[in-house]
Amino acid sequence: MVAKSMDELVSLCKRRGFIFQSNDIYGGIKGLYDYGPMGVELKNNLKNAWWKSMVYERDDVEGIDASILSSPVVLKQSGHEDTFTDPLVDCRSCKSRWRADQLEESSCPNCQSKDLTDSRPFNLMFKTSIGPVDDGSSFVYLRPETCQQIFTNFKNILDSTSRTIPFGVAQIGKAFRNEITPRNFIFRVREFEQMELEFFVEPGKDEKWHEYWVNQRLKWWIDQGISKDKLKKYDVDVKELSHYSKNTVDIMYDFPHGEEELEGIANRTDFDLGSHTKNQQDFNIDSKVNKNEHSTTKLAIQNLEKKTWFIPYVIEPSAGVDRGILAVLNEAYKEEKIDENNTRIVLSLKPHLAPIKAAVIPLKKNNEKIVDFAKKIKNNLQKLGLGRVMLENSGNIGKNYRRHDEIGTPICITVDFETLNDNTVTVRDRDSMEQQRIGIDNLNNYYKNYFI
Ligand code: GAP
Repeated sequence: MVAKSMDELVSLCKRRGFIFQSNDIYGGIKGLYDYGPMGVELKNNLKNAWWKSMVYERDDVEGIDASILSSPVVLKQSGHEDTFTDPLVDCRSCKSRWRADQLEESSCPNCQSKDLTDSRPFNLMFKTSIGPVDDGSSFVYLRPETCQQIFTNFKNILDSTSRTIPFGVAQIGKAFRNEITPRNFIFRVREFEQMELEFFVEPGKDEKWHEYWVNQRLKWWIDQGISKDKLKKYDVDVKELSHYSKNTVDIMYDFPHGEEELEGIANRTDFDLGSHTKNQQDFNIDSKVNKNEHSTTKLAIQNLEKKTWFIPYVIEPSAGVDRGILAVLNEAYKEEKIDENNTRIVLSLKPHLAPIKAAVIPLKKNNEKIVDFAKKIKNNLQKLGLGRVMLENSGNIGKNYRRHDEIGTPICITVDFETLNDNTVTVRDRDSMEQQRIGIDNLNNYYKNYFI
C-alpha cells in the first residue's frame, strides 16, 4: 500500500529528517526545500544509482559537472530567453498572481474574483549580477536546465575523450525556475536537481534511439522500486512540445496529488548543437535554429568515410531528482497492522536507496563492553563502503526499531550480553520483522547480501 496522502509523506519527511521547508525559522520561502540527514542520504543514493546505470555500467557515456551560472548568450541561443515562459495573470482584487493555464473557470483561486488581468508571458529564469559592479549590464542566469553546458562543451569532450557517435554525456545538478505557483511539496519547486543524459546519434537513427531510451528509463524507475502499474508513457502532443523537440515521451507517475510527469525523454534533433555552432551555413541543419554570430567553435562530427561534417541529433532522457524522491517515498510508505492493537509505519525502500544501511544497537547503553563491541561492528560494516551505517546509542530497543522502520533501514543489529559470551548478534529484518541470531563471522556476508 502506498501513502494515502501527500500530508502523510510531508509529515514523515519532517518527523524523520528527510525534507524540511527551507528558511523555516523565518517563515519559509515557497518552492524551496532542504534535505535533512535522511533526505541527503536518500537523494545521494538515487543519484548514485542513476550515475551507476548511465555511466559506469555502459561503455558509451561520459560524465560532466558544469557551472550553474550561465552566460545570457548560451540561453539566447538555446531559445530560453525568448520562449521559456509561462502565462501569468494578476488578480486585481487580492493582488495574487497565477499561472493562467492552471486556473479553473478563469477565477482567482484565492478570492474567487473574476477581475483578472490578461495573461502575459513570464520568463522563468532567475537572473543575478556577476562581478563587483551591479549596474544591470553584467548579468548571468541560473541555469533552467542542466544540459546546455553539455552542448557548449561538446567539442571539449570530443577532443579529450576521442569519442565518436553514438555516445552520451551525463550530468546531475541543480536547475532553477522561478515557477509562478510552486506546489505539491517537492513536485514543483523553484530550485531542484536534474539527472540528464544527452545522447548524440546519427541523424536518421534518432527515432530508434529515442524508443530505446524510453524503455531503458522505464526499466530503471522500476528498479528503484516504482510499481509498473503506476508508470505510464505519454506521447506529448505536437502542440505541447518544447521548441527544441521533434518528439517527447513523458514517463508519468501516479503521485499522491495525481498523475504527472516524472521524466521526459525528448528527441532534441540537431537543434542545440546547431544553435550553438559557428558557421551554421556549412551544415544541413534540419531544425529551426537561432542564427549564431558569437560561437567560436564548430559543434559537429566528421563522417570518416565521406569526409563530410555533420551535426548529430540528440536524445535526452531528463529526470527530476526531487520528483524521483517523491515517487520513491510514496511507493515505499506503508502503514501495517502488526497485531490487534498496534500498527507501524515502514518505508520499504529498495536497500540500495535506504539512507541508513544498517543500525547497530547496543542493548545496554551504559555497558562499556557492549557499546565497544557495537562500535567495532559499526566500523567494520562502514568500511565495506555500501553507505551509512549508524550506531544507535539512544532510546530503547522498541523505539529504535520504530524509528528505523520509518526511515527504511533494512537491518537492525543488536549487541547484548550473549554477544560477549558467544560472538553472536540479533539481526532484525525491516520488512518481515523476523529476528535471528547470527555469528559475527558471518555478519559481513549477511550484510552484503542485502545490497547485491
Ligand atoms: N532539459 C530538458 C528539461 O529540462 P523538462 O521537462 O522541463 O525538460 C525535465 O524537465 C524534468 O525536470 C521533469 O521531468 C521533472 O522531473 C523535472 N522538473 C522540471 N521542472 C521542475 C520543477 N519546477 N520542480 C521539480 N522538478 C522539475
